[in-house]
Amino acid sequence: MSLLQVCSHAGHLPLSQVAAVQGRVVLADVERVCVVGSGNWGSTVARIIGQNTERLGDRFDRSVKMWVYEEIVDGQKLTEIINTRHENVKYLPGVELPSNVIAVPDLAQAASGATILVFALPHQFLPKLLPTIQQARSSNAIAVSLIKGMATGCDISVLMGANVADEVARGDFCEATIGYRSKGNAELIKTLFEQPTFQLRLIPDPVGVEIFGTLKNVIALGAGFVDGLGYGTNTKAAIMRIGMHEMLRFGETFFPEMMKDTILESCGVADLITTCFGGRNRKCAEQFARGPRDWKQLEASMLGGQKLQGVSTIEHVHKMLRDKQVVGRFPLLDLIYRICMCACEPEEIVRSASTCYVAD
Ligand SMILES: NC(=O)c1ccc[n+]([C@@H]2O[C@H](COP(=O)([O-])OP(=O)(O)OC[C@H]3O[C@@H](n4cnc5c(N)ncnc54)[C@H](O)[C@@H]3O)[C@@H](O)[C@H]2O)c1
Repeated sequence: MSLLQVCSHAGHLPLSQVAAVQGRVVLADVERVCVVGSGNWGSTVARIIGQNTERLGDRFDRSVKMWVYEEIVDGQKLTEIINTRHENVKYLPGVELPSNVIAVPDLAQAASGATILVFALPHQFLPKLLPTIQQARSSNAIAVSLIKGMATGCDISVLMGANVADEVARGDFCEATIGYRSKGNAELIKTLFEQPTFQLRLIPDPVGVEIFGTLKNVIALGAGFVDGLGYGTNTKAAIMRIGMHEMLRFGETFFPEMMKDTILESCGVADLITTCFGGRNRKCAEQFARGPRDWKQLEASMLGGQKLQGVSTIEHVHKMLRDKQVVGRFPLLDLIYRICMCACEPEEIVRSASTCYVAD
């Protein structure tokens, strides 16, 4: 199920209606940015954007509003901590945020007048926020989604890549991909994000960028099972290769307009490698294979408030496979689903490798 469908099924506005401005002819006098989300990645991109709007003051309002889901941390409101200490102590500890990044707990106030909306929060929280944003945003707002969950069909750009937030936040060099429908909008977004250590490539394939960005979280669960069972890098590389194969096949099956070469971009193979060696999905799946086999407990005990994405994604993806009656063409995705949801033994992922994964 795509994010767009999630929004529609829940009776909420699809993302496309929140930012339906494709190829703006008239640019805003000054672009005003709202980052919707303030987790590990949301805070990291707010930091980058804040540094850039400070530098590019003739084009962008220097102040960047960051919507924060209010929480109490050590007896104090998280927004107050961010606005006084300029640090998101819960989701990006130890990293200074620029003083022009303003934490706002009220969503309507944060999105009010925004001409660029940057969506950076776990996908499950998005649907209920969209009506408020739709009311508050500027009528010519454009949007970019950094959410690893498919919003295919929306008139928005998507930005994905091999970007572990903590490494981006400390300034390690990396790349990312912007998938666009409107090149003009994508170029504006590139200006907003780009830094010498954060390089962006523009690709006219938003669907491919989202599919790879989303499915890599699922393949990373498979990589984590292999780690948890004690296998080495050869075995993990085999799972990753088969995973790439099924990612491409998934795109061909459900979104034939997808461009195959997108898998060679940062949002494709590079993000898959990073996630299968580093990310939180791999980490929790490694522990799941050893036990306890309880995702909620693992998320709560291992991620410090961050959210696991791969498990809810494979539920949606497997439903898409079942609805289209193509489960048999995706043996790895099917097995990851059965290990996650149906008490199938993680060891099956290796046992099956010599038989059912021999791809045609
Ligand atoms: N962290 C990374 O390294 C990274 C890198 C690239 C992309 N991404 C993607 O970016 C997106 C955002 O990830 P993240 O790492 O910033 O999130 P996160 O898991 O670090 O943070 C969780 C966020 O959800 C918020 N939240 C908790 N309960 C909520 C509720 N009921 N309603 C609304 N918000 C609530 C929290 O305040 C917090 O901001 C995800 O799709 C992720 O896959 C993450």
